Amino acid sequence: MKIGIIGGGNMANGLGKFWAKNGHQLMFSFSRNEQKLKDLAASVSDTAQVGTPAEAVQFADVVLLAVPWVAVPEALQAAGSLNGKILFSCVNALKPDMSGMAVGTTTSAAEEIAKLAPGARVVEGLPLFAEVLQSGDTSFNGTEATVFYCGDDAEAKTVVAGLLKETAVEAIDVGGLSTARYIEPAMMVLIQLAYVQQMGQVAFSLLRR
Ligand SMILES: NC(=O)c1ccc[n+]([C@@H]2O[C@H](COP(=O)([O-])OP(=O)(O)OC[C@H]3O[C@@H](n4cnc5c(N)ncnc54)[C@H](OP(=O)(O)O)[C@@H]3O)[C@@H](O)[C@H]2O)c1
Repeated sequence: MKIGIIGGGNMANGLGKFWAKNGHQLMFSFSRNEQKLKDLAASVSDTAQVGTPAEAVQFADVVLLAVPWVAVPEALQAAGSLNGKILFSCVNALKPDMSGMAVGTTTSAAEEIAKLAPGARVVEGLPLFAEVLQSGDTSFNGTEATVFYCGDDAEAKTVVAGLLKETAVEAIDVGGLSTARYIEPAMMVLIQLAYVQQMGQVAFSLLRR
């Protein structure tokens, strides 16, 4: 699959490494530092490319949006039309200092992104912490972590679920795109535990009976 990545930071790196290992073709875009983007592409695979966000969209079967919430409008503007594209958003609507949610309860990053990208087949998936992905080993003492995804387009969700599963996690479909309102703040629990309470690398694991 061809994956265009908007964002050249920690998530682009962590997810990109798994996907390159699984044979996907990647194009990275949208860093303020062109050399950083080139170094990222080279570190991920021999064949990964760099381009503008619009080029990444043109290239892609699936577009990963991996930018901070504050940078979303600029990123989507630079991306151009996403009409008909599967848009995998891993964006959480965090305040820049991660002290809380910039939006929530009555909307979500995913829903606002869908409004900014008319016609895009938006799926939100919030993967594991980037440092866990970048370690290359996503198991927690032998247990597979759970990540959540949601969206309104069944076919797009199947594609995104597959990409999430390639990071060796259990991917759980939470429902329609508006359930991002619950997934996004749930991640704040992990951020609180990891960074405020300094519990280190943490993740969810869903129990059922
Ligand atoms: N990190 C995690 O563990 C994690 C987990 C789940 C979800 N997420 C979500 O994933 C998204 C990406 O997170 P990340 O950790 O990959 O972020 P990051 O490391 O800060 O990378 C963000 C990328 O966006 C680029 N960018 C372009 N314009 C920007 C601007 N005006 N302000 C800020 N960045 C700009 C940055 O450019 P430069 O290269 O020039 O810095 C960088 O390449 C966020 O929405 C986050 O909430 C993150």
